[in-house]
Amino acid sequence: MEQNYLNQAYSAELPADFCGNVKWQSPSNIALVKYWGKKGKQLPQNPSISFTLSNCRTETSVAFQKAEQFHLKFTFEGRENLAFAAKIEKFLLENQRFFPFLSQLDLHIESRNTFPHSSGIASSASSMSALVMCLLDMERLAKGETEIDLQRASYFSRLASGSASRSVLPKMALWGATDAFSGSSDEYAVSLENEIHPVFKAFHDSILIVSDAQKSVSSRAGHALMEGNPYAEARYQQANANIVNLLEALKSGDLDSFIAITESEALQLHALMMCSNPSYILLKPNTLNLIQAVRQFRCETQIPICFTLDAGPNVHLLYPDAEAQKVEQFVKDKLVAYCVNSQWIDDRVGEGSSRI
Ligand code: PMV
Repeated sequence: MEQNYLNQAYSAELPADFCGNVKWQSPSNIALVKYWGKKGKQLPQNPSISFTLSNCRTETSVAFQKAEQFHLKFTFEGRENLAFAAKIEKFLLENQRFFPFLSQLDLHIESRNTFPHSSGIASSASSMSALVMCLLDMERLAKGETEIDLQRASYFSRLASGSASRSVLPKMALWGATDAFSGSSDEYAVSLENEIHPVFKAFHDSILIVSDAQKSVSSRAGHALMEGNPYAEARYQQANANIVNLLEALKSGDLDSFIAITESEALQLHALMMCSNPSYILLKPNTLNLIQAVRQFRCETQIPICFTLDAGPNVHLLYPDAEAQKVEQFVKDKLVAYCVNSQWIDDRVGEGSSRI
């Protein structure tokens, strides 16, 4: 794959008047089967499956013009952000062989998130995939092509941030090679849009904000700690089995299996953190209060609702569209009490990256 994409790299001299503006949005995504542990160059130790979200997005525009040498300015929500500029520059430098045309450009990248600043929602999946879409759009213009190849977009998004590989695709995505799905790959994500029961195409994700503080341990450090984790091999086997069973549940619309696998995956992710060396805990007391309340509500009402967790304390409530009214009432009546400043984000399954 790498050689293929190197062959497609565009290095011709750009016209002196080459300039313009590209603008893309890309959503965040929430994993059901989690990617936790990597190998080689940003490759996953096990396959993962996610819902692509809709309202939690990054919007990125790039103004570009021909220049003597590469130059980058990055502003986030109107302000120059040197830390993020350094992250982008590092990604571009490490991967310049794929994008040689950039050495002739002056770029001004402007980015904003549609979700609140300090919601504790990780933005690397949405921001890095939005950036990659802009890069590929500039390359498309340079080459005079009409389309952007989504597989390529997913491949480069993965190099920037593993989970970003899934954000470019509509509805649901599978990233990581598994015998259970032909065409799956460790190098890029594939769409599950045509492999899932209609109930999942309109699923909701209400994100309950338990803490808006920055995580004490980054995902990068968390992935690295899997290397010495005594449960690592058992975890990778479990994840593979969960992929097989979840793919089946997604196809048939089996909500009971969906719920069992999704909740188990969320708790396993945090269990792995707790038994890393050094051990750490990202769950907060209100995370557990919410989990308990959700399970009790499910038991009492028989409404097929469940939770998942990202690498942080916030709780993602997942439920079918048909239950939205009842669940929203439940959130307002019972759950916002556990949220910091009563904050929650009403999100749902979405369409992946798009030009804006
Ligand atoms: O893409 P990264 O390196 O930020 O890792 C993401 C890890 C989880 O969000 C915890 C799980 C996942 O599959 O998205």
